[in-house]
Amino acid sequence: MSIEIQDWVESDIPVVSGWITDRDTRKALGIPLDSTPAAVETGLWLALADRQQKWFIARDDDELMGMFGLTSINPDGSAIFHLVIAPEHRGKGGFVSRKARSFMQERGVRKLIALISRDNKKSKKLAEGFGFKFEDVDLGVLLLNEEG
Ligand SMILES: CC(C)(COP(=O)(O)OP(=O)(O)OC[C@H]1O[C@@H](n2cnc3c(N)ncnc32)[C@H](O)[C@@H]1OP(=O)(O)O)[C@@H](O)C(=O)NCCC(=O)NCCS
Repeated sequence: MSIEIQDWVESDIPVVSGWITDRDTRKALGIPLDSTPAAVETGLWLALADRQQKWFIARDDDELMGMFGLTSINPDGSAIFHLVIAPEHRGKGGFVSRKARSFMQERGVRKLIALISRDNKKSKKLAEGFGFKFEDVDLGVLLLNEEG
């Protein structure tokens, strides 16, 4: 498997919005649980247009495997990190996130913050494997900080 990281483009929106149906994914992206598919698509358009956020797609040839993004990007090189693996590619989260981490490191992102819902065990395990340390609980989500 050779993963390529690319900027997320408008034509990816219909595929990506199809991934955002379950509770964990919606929580991970801060999308209300009762949003309609049309509202999810609108949210993605807004995210893409917002220059304060950066979103990327992980691709294996023609297949979109997942996406990740940075919001609340701070001048000190820290940012909140979001990751979604396409449902049909679940199980490859570690692989994609390692690739995403080095991609961001090469672009000067120094410290990531993850907001993870309390019961999202897979995401917590993934973050801990990357050396994130539990910091706080805020608005019902765990706040984990990458050491550094
Ligand atoms: C969370 C997410 C990114 C993980 O990706 P994934 O491909 O499904 O996860 P993986 O199968 O690679 O599992 C990640 C880790 O959790 C472990 N894991 C799997 N199921 C688990 C469970 N029920 N309880 C605890 N750990 C579990 C895996 O063993 C793996 O650990 P390892 O890397 O040490 O082997 C993906 O499920 C997703 O996109 N979820 C919806 C959005 C989301 O929650 N994003 C994260 C918030 S930023």
